[in-house]
Amino acid sequence: MRKAIALTMATVMALSLAACGGSGSSTTTAQSGGTSTAAETSTVANKDKPLIWFNRQPSNSTTGELDQAALSFNDNTYYVGFDANQGAELQGQMVKDYIEAHADTIDRNGDGVIGYVLAIGDIGHNDSIARTRGVRSALGTAVEGDNGIVSDPVGVNTDGTATAVQDGTIEVNGTTYTVRELASQEMKNSAGATWDAGTAGNAITTWAASLGDQIDIVVSNNDGMGMAMFNSWSRANSVPTFGYDANADAVAAIAEGYGGTISQHADVQAYLTLRLIRNALDGVDINTGIATEDDAGNVLSDDVYYYDEASRSYYALNVAVTADNYEDYLDSTVPYAPVSNQLDSATHAEKSVWLDIYNAADNFLSATYQPLLQKYDDLLNLKVDYIGGDGQNESNITNRLGNPSQYDAFAINMVKTDNATSYTALLSQ
Ligand code: BGC
Repeated sequence: MRKAIALTMATVMALSLAACGGSGSSTTTAQSGGTSTAAETSTVANKDKPLIWFNRQPSNSTTGELDQAALSFNDNTYYVGFDANQGAELQGQMVKDYIEAHADTIDRNGDGVIGYVLAIGDIGHNDSIARTRGVRSALGTAVEGDNGIVSDPVGVNTDGTATAVQDGTIEVNGTTYTVRELASQEMKNSAGATWDAGTAGNAITTWAASLGDQIDIVVSNNDGMGMAMFNSWSRANSVPTFGYDANADAVAAIAEGYGGTISQHADVQAYLTLRLIRNALDGVDINTGIATEDDAGNVLSDDVYYYDEASRSYYALNVAVTADNYEDYLDSTVPYAPVSNQLDSATHAEKSVWLDIYNAADNFLSATYQPLLQKYDDLLNLKVDYIGGDGQNESNITNRLGNPSQYDAFAINMVKTDNATSYTALLSQ
């Protein structure tokens, strides 16, 4: 349904157009960036080049407060992400719906308590915090703290006495079940990498050894960790496991008992990440090919994204992927059809972009987001250098931004949301 049928046709057309019409000389000015013409010799200062933050919104990792200085670094600075709260609510609702639909079988040991364990990605990442809150709210286990719903991990909570959560209740067909967060933990490895799938795979083995058939449901802040837990334990024990991201392996696993996941519309986000750069470099209205149709027919409808002026942020909207609809989501790396038309290289000359992925081992970013970026960079005539970080040290990435003058634009995925100045300082030099 969502497939990019137009892709091949558009590519063929653009190539033949370029062959007969394009002079080709325009690409030689690519280094100068901006809207410069061939006659111009001056180069754009690095601090004035387009800068897109994505996936990790510049913000204080303790309070969540947005880093407005980073978000408005220059006139062509934006953030691209997705609506974390809408997605978190969907994830919580998806788990609750599953419990209600499987009330006869869900309580494995028949003790009247529906127990779940939760894998937390990064206690300082706003998406991770939102998902923990969303699941706790939907299941009635949330507790209000000074800064809204508490999102701290509980460790192990076999008897329900942890203070970061409370026991909830769900009533199905006249029976009231207690719902308990039996265990939760931030999945950070010893080297410091967060959202760590290997850590989650080990955690479920430890939890299962002590909690056994008290565990009725496994929930994770993402599919990378969710699939590690599914493969280590829940598949073999037929325990429904829920993640987030709609990575292809997780969607395929729904056929084998994975409970469900949430698509954060990475196909729309990856497009926006590069499209905003394209528009800024073309010197056209920033919403070209986004809110308004471009010359190739690309346009997004407002049911898949929105723009928030105050935070200079474009947010994609999320969709629940469950046994009911997963067949439409099996390939997570297909460009979104309405924005998959090739731009003409005669009028949109090649530009060069520096882009980093904070952790080359992050399942979502490496298996879903980057493959999409690599398809869109061709469609948008952008030559992108992809830098993969180690997920722990910002310097591992910033060290590889040694010569920003060589690029026309930057797309940045930070290790820690607090660290925007590590990048902007380099661009301001
Ligand atoms: C994704 C996670 C990913 C994280 C990295 C989140 O939006 O859902 O899977 O690990 O971003 O920053």
